[in-house]
Amino acid sequence: MKIAVVGTGYVGLVTGTCFAETGNDVICVDIDANKVEQMQQGKVPIYEPDLDVLFERNQRQGRLKFTTDLKEAVDASDVIFLALPTPPGEGGAADLKYILGVAKDLSTLITKYTVVIDKSTVPVGTAERVHAALVENLDEALFDVVSNPEFLREGVAVDDFLKPDRVVIGTDSKRAKEKMRRLYEPFVRSGNPIIFMDLRSAEMTKYAANSYLATRITFMNEIANLCEKAGADVDAVRRGMGSDSRIGKRFLFPGVGYGGSCFPKDVQALAITAGQHDYNFKILDAVMDVNTRQRFRIADKLEQYYGDSLKDKTIALWGLAFKPNTDDIREAPALYTIDRLLEAGAQVRAFDPEATEHVRAIYGDKVTFCEDQYTALRGSDCLAIVTEWSVFRTPDFDRMKELLTEPVIFDGRNLYDLQRMQEAGFHYDSIGRQPVQA
Ligand code: UDX
Repeated sequence: MKIAVVGTGYVGLVTGTCFAETGNDVICVDIDANKVEQMQQGKVPIYEPDLDVLFERNQRQGRLKFTTDLKEAVDASDVIFLALPTPPGEGGAADLKYILGVAKDLSTLITKYTVVIDKSTVPVGTAERVHAALVENLDEALFDVVSNPEFLREGVAVDDFLKPDRVVIGTDSKRAKEKMRRLYEPFVRSGNPIIFMDLRSAEMTKYAANSYLATRITFMNEIANLCEKAGADVDAVRRGMGSDSRIGKRFLFPGVGYGGSCFPKDVQALAITAGQHDYNFKILDAVMDVNTRQRFRIADKLEQYYGDSLKDKTIALWGLAFKPNTDDIREAPALYTIDRLLEAGAQVRAFDPEATEHVRAIYGDKVTFCEDQYTALRGSDCLAIVTEWSVFRTPDFDRMKELLTEPVIFDGRNLYDLQRMQEAGFHYDSIGRQPVQA
């Protein structure tokens, strides 16, 4: 099939590249001429595991192209994916100016039957607005609008795309349905379902799934906070709960709150949608409140431990990205932690395997950025961990003790075994578990 993907953010780029991988001809469009030029020269503008290999192969074989010219892409395609940003606009509601802007442009460019697909996370009713924008200049017989939300996790987006648990397609058109089925069949050979539904339900599914996962994490964060007070161990509780097949093991890990470009935005957007329909969706308000508090959990612990003397301390910080295997720092708990520590007058020595440059762009020399995880420890009074990169999981504890002025670790991701830390002689405070005293 001939596919255009409008918007080459991480969703657009992964979508385009993976469709090229199954033999389609894909042309990706972006208004950023610089970025398009870079991609034409073979440069992948984001860090996403495995994307570079697929990108290179499909570009070399001529199935993956890039342009700034929307008309060129429209002429060359019979399905068009919209993978455009939907930043929080006024009052936090998703701002649809990019999507509706492109829909308007498409209405003057489409000349043959085309399926226009919303891939971006958009509020319920957006497909109808895209339809309205298209029909202004375009015969209704020449297009169908489809909602096809993505469920890609950063860091494993390529794998999630190639082997989805399910594909959700919202459409009321038989013709569009068949095209979508053909497009996605290669990805669900294992028997996972393509679930067809109406447009509004597809749009709602995305918000419901993400808000449910954010709620689940938040529930565990509250259980963890209570475990600390009640003398329980959240790790044991998590295993005990997760073994119930009705609950399941995944997405039960407590930590320093959820971040990233999706959960915070989507929970807020769903709360706003609820408000617009005069529905008081109480759980969502609680989830947002608790998560705002949880992001400061490690900073709170440091403040409690050091009191006023925090201003004279140097804190080593491991992890800046909002989660491992990405350089994305949007809504990253690390940023909230750094803000608090700097406010308190502490020094911060930070290390992250991928996200350093993005954070340097915000803080400049207010934070010392280190080349590796051990350099961050040199002369620091303690270590705070906020992202669970694999490289932090089995460090050289002896070396750490030599580099830190005191053997103190605050762990926002529960990376280490409590007994191991006891034996290694650390003061070790994690989330939802009883602190180990040095
Ligand atoms: C998420 C959704 O998973 C994906 O389906 C959607 O389309 C985009 O949003 P992503 O934001 O890339 O993906 O990351 P994800 O792995 O889902 O983690 C989100 C946040 O939850 C991270 O901050 C992570 O640290 C946190 N998290 C996740 C926990 O705190 N505990 C967990 O058990 C799981």
